[in-house]
Amino acid sequence: MRVFIAGVDGYLGWALAQRLAARGHRVGGADALLRRAWVAQMGSVSAVPIAPPAERLAAFTEHFGAAMPFYPLDLRDHDALGRALAAFAPDAVVHLAECPSAPYSMIDFWHAESVQSNNVTGTLSLLFAMRDHCPQAHLLKLGTMGEYGTPDVDIPEGFFEVEYRGRRDRLPFPRQAGSWYHWSKVFDSQNVAFACDLWGLRATDVMQGVVYGTWCPADPRLSSRLDYDEAFGTSVNRFCCQTVINRPITPYGNGTQRRGLLSLADSMQCLTLALENPPEPGEYRVFNQLRDVLSVRHLAELVHRAALECGLTARIEPVDNPRSEAEQHHYNPETARLRALGFTPSAPIGEELRQMIRDLLPHADRIASHADRLDPTVRWRPRRPGGQATDQHLTARPNGRNPE
Ligand SMILES: NC(=O)c1ccc[n+]([C@@H]2O[C@H](COP(=O)([O-])OP(=O)(O)OC[C@H]3O[C@@H](n4cnc5c(N)ncnc54)[C@H](O)[C@@H]3O)[C@@H](O)[C@H]2O)c1
Repeated sequence: MRVFIAGVDGYLGWALAQRLAARGHRVGGADALLRRAWVAQMGSVSAVPIAPPAERLAAFTEHFGAAMPFYPLDLRDHDALGRALAAFAPDAVVHLAECPSAPYSMIDFWHAESVQSNNVTGTLSLLFAMRDHCPQAHLLKLGTMGEYGTPDVDIPEGFFEVEYRGRRDRLPFPRQAGSWYHWSKVFDSQNVAFACDLWGLRATDVMQGVVYGTWCPADPRLSSRLDYDEAFGTSVNRFCCQTVINRPITPYGNGTQRRGLLSLADSMQCLTLALENPPEPGEYRVFNQLRDVLSVRHLAELVHRAALECGLTARIEPVDNPRSEAEQHHYNPETARLRALGFTPSAPIGEELRQMIRDLLPHADRIASHADRLDPTVRWRPRRPGGQATDQHLTARPNGRNPE
């Protein structure tokens, strides 16, 4: 299969390119290298060093025996995207190319606008480009479990059966996102579903849980990034980075918030299953992609235990929750579809966490040198009106649009 990965330079994308190539698929990719710039803007670095794009591509060719056609473009450059899709002629397009950070989108108007315009316009550009250049290709689009919020009822896979005044229908399950970023993913979901209905495109919209884990093959040029700053580091990845530099593990609030999670290896397995079992033309399907549902406090305890097993000293110190979110809530998402396709979770979470800590330990100095980036400073609700950003890394506007 010919698979075009939009966002191939990112955390998931670089790992997925290798997993697919190892299974004999032909991989091409696009990326505007924005994630590298966003993390630098937050004053941070990837804990695992990542090679420049040219070195990554050279390593890919050496290890997988074929060069990866790479298109250094922004998805919103619609003409360039169209040319790339026409040249590569994909059977499937994986769309990862979005800004994935809720805290980044909550900094101020400029960041909210930049995340929503990047994500919503980029997806719209891709939908039109697929219509015009590869209408038969399967779109595998990454959404997030955060689109659903935390409703007080079970969460089905995208749709629910409703009966009202004697009539029945299958309707999209209501979305109750909790950040400007998560709302951008909701808008994407609506647009992708509409494009399938309107033009007969086929798509899988993946409501993915929080991903954790390192991707560190023997050749360091093949390593995937792993971030720990407050905006681009996800909870478990941040907790593990905290333990390797002997800083306390800091769950937000009372830690009873529950989330769906899965390891990077499991995410790769699920995305491969979705690609190798495509939907029918015109079909829009939704997969809830997660392995475990755990509370943030339980996660902190699991990381704490893994750290002790790796010979580290670790401690847990909760901090004020900077987000606006329910801490006590029901949470029961359905996850039948990927399991029906054969998803079998890989290593138990404790094993994954120990491996992650072992992969991070050689980079402890690198993490320690940016340790101040771990502390949350972005607040969902400002403490005083107009009093949002004070951290120097947050006051600069994205895309260089600073006032004169
Ligand atoms: N990592 C997680 O825990 C997680 C969980 C749920 C959903 N997701 C979703 O999965 C996808 C991938 O996540 P990730 O963690 O790999 O993020 P990432 O930031 O590491 O990767 C995204 C890549 O896309 C590129 N990109 C962004 N906007 C672009 C644009 N307009 N044009 C071209 N390239 C662009 C970035 O430079 C980056 O390399 C995202 O859509 C994210 O919302 C991630």
